[in-house]
Amino acid sequence: ASTRRHTFVVREASYTRLCSTKKMLTVNGQFPGPTIYAMKGETIIVDVYNRGKENVTIHWHGVNMPRYPWTDGPEYITQCPIQPGSKFSQKIILSSEEGTLWWHAHSDWTRATVHGAIIVYPKNGTKYPFHKPNAEVLIILGQWWKIDVNAIRDKGLANGADANASDSLLINGQPGDLLPCSKSSTFKLTVDHEKTYLLRIINAALHEPLFFSIAKHKMTVVGTDGSYTKPLTQDYITIFPGQTFDVLLEANQRPDHYYMAAKTYSDAPTGRNIFDNTTTTAIIQYRGYYTPSSPPFLPHLPAFNDTIASLQVMATLRSLADVEHPCNVPLSTSTKLIYTLSINSYPCVNDSCSGANGTRSAASINNISFHTPTVDILEAYYYNINGVYGDKFPSVPPVVFDFTAYYLPLLYQLPSAGTEVRVLEYNSTVEIVLQGTNLVAGVTHPMHLHGHSFYVVGWGFGNFDENRDPLHYNLVDPPHQNTISVPKNGWVAIRFEASNPGVWFMHCHVERHLTWGMETVFIVKNGKHPEAQMLPPPSDMPPC
Ligand code: C2O
Ligand code: CU
Repeated sequence: ASTRRHTFVVREASYTRLCSTKKMLTVNGQFPGPTIYAMKGETIIVDVYNRGKENVTIHWHGVNMPRYPWTDGPEYITQCPIQPGSKFSQKIILSSEEGTLWWHAHSDWTRATVHGAIIVYPKNGTKYPFHKPNAEVLIILGQWWKIDVNAIRDKGLANGADANASDSLLINGQPGDLLPCSKSSTFKLTVDHEKTYLLRIINAALHEPLFFSIAKHKMTVVGTDGSYTKPLTQDYITIFPGQTFDVLLEANQRPDHYYMAAKTYSDAPTGRNIFDNTTTTAIIQYRGYYTPSSPPFLPHLPAFNDTIASLQVMATLRSLADVEHPCNVPLSTSTKLIYTLSINSYPCVNDSCSGANGTRSAASINNISFHTPTVDILEAYYYNINGVYGDKFPSVPPVVFDFTAYYLPLLYQLPSAGTEVRVLEYNSTVEIVLQGTNLVAGVTHPMHLHGHSFYVVGWGFGNFDENRDPLHYNLVDPPHQNTISVPKNGWVAIRFEASNPGVWFMHCHVERHLTWGMETVFIVKNGKHPEAQMLPPPSDMPPC
């Protein structure tokens, strides 16, 4: 495989949106950041220079990085941050991924502006499992705040109530022409009649699941998270933070101009549903001579709280599962884990938390709210440094009860803070049931796993039933993903083979929940010293 090299200079730049200018962190001054193009199986080197004022790390979202967690990127999990003035050369090791992935900062909330696409083409001599599109178009969805995102983060950490509400959503960095001062910069896509376009759509928003649709046009989903799917024709899609979709768009309508639009799906209970309720737009414009209707047609999008609509793609999406793209879902599993996902609300004891009614928000998995260490877990594992983490992360919740009921045990109100990992034996077959709970607020959690893509074999509302639900698993063509939304007061079952030795983060991709502690770590180990299982570290690992 060949190697390509990129330079990422992380630095501040001034950007103006919604008539207001701010300085923000960017890569190479670009927003959204530069696109990385690659072919399946290639290794890319990115020289990351931190020329900003704060620590930063960069993560390649959805790249499995076989035996090489060293440059995966999550801060204090696989590396210490790249300090201002220093450089880290990161490898992106592609293996089975093909389609659309992305990269983003993995420290604080800087990923709001520090992100971009990774496009992985088929290898030479192989091709797309669908008709070659006439052109490809990147659609990066995001969120914009007029003020600095890390100031929002501090607010969110203390309280969280209003930290979610951005000033606008974005398509390719632009709020769109329904919002003030945005008309002339709205993203425009010119299409030719009867041509087909591959849209590579990424949800890079910090917190918001998004409905996305194109007026009067259907979209056919052909891939997600760097894996192909059976074609699925939709009027709209729901894309959760962290996810990507590849969709085909046929420009087969009357030559005119049409909006594409995205808006938030929010399922928080009334009183807590503070979210960005703006609609972001871009314009699809047919080439040629005609009198455009005025204004362009707007697509129909589901109501903001339409949970059933939000799960429609998940309910019907299937992996391609053909001869060239086989489905390798483990048919049985040697390790079964049940992880409960909870939002918690601590009473404030003389610290500076300014939450409602004297509380501070937290979030937990199996009642442990992740405490970020000051030395990264990978380094502690590799060099056998004691006292950084424990390996006692519980395989099941501490108490089993009705997770989705209105009244939940007091125990769950007060999670313990801890840095616990779960060790997975190399090549073990793993099933994780991610169970939502109704504590404080039953909300959707898009859970993301580093180091492995997984098969989504089942999901449902209410409590997972270990006797009944596995009977309905899809073990034929379940979708292969790296980020899956656990529905509000429901569960999802994922399966994968722990075939990648290393230290791998798993977390909610709602940035607010991540900040509150909804994350955990797996160490995939084959019984020998880590040196025997992983490639050696690069010489320029950032020091702690
Ligand atoms: Cu997209 Cu751990 O991240
Ligand atoms: Cu979450």
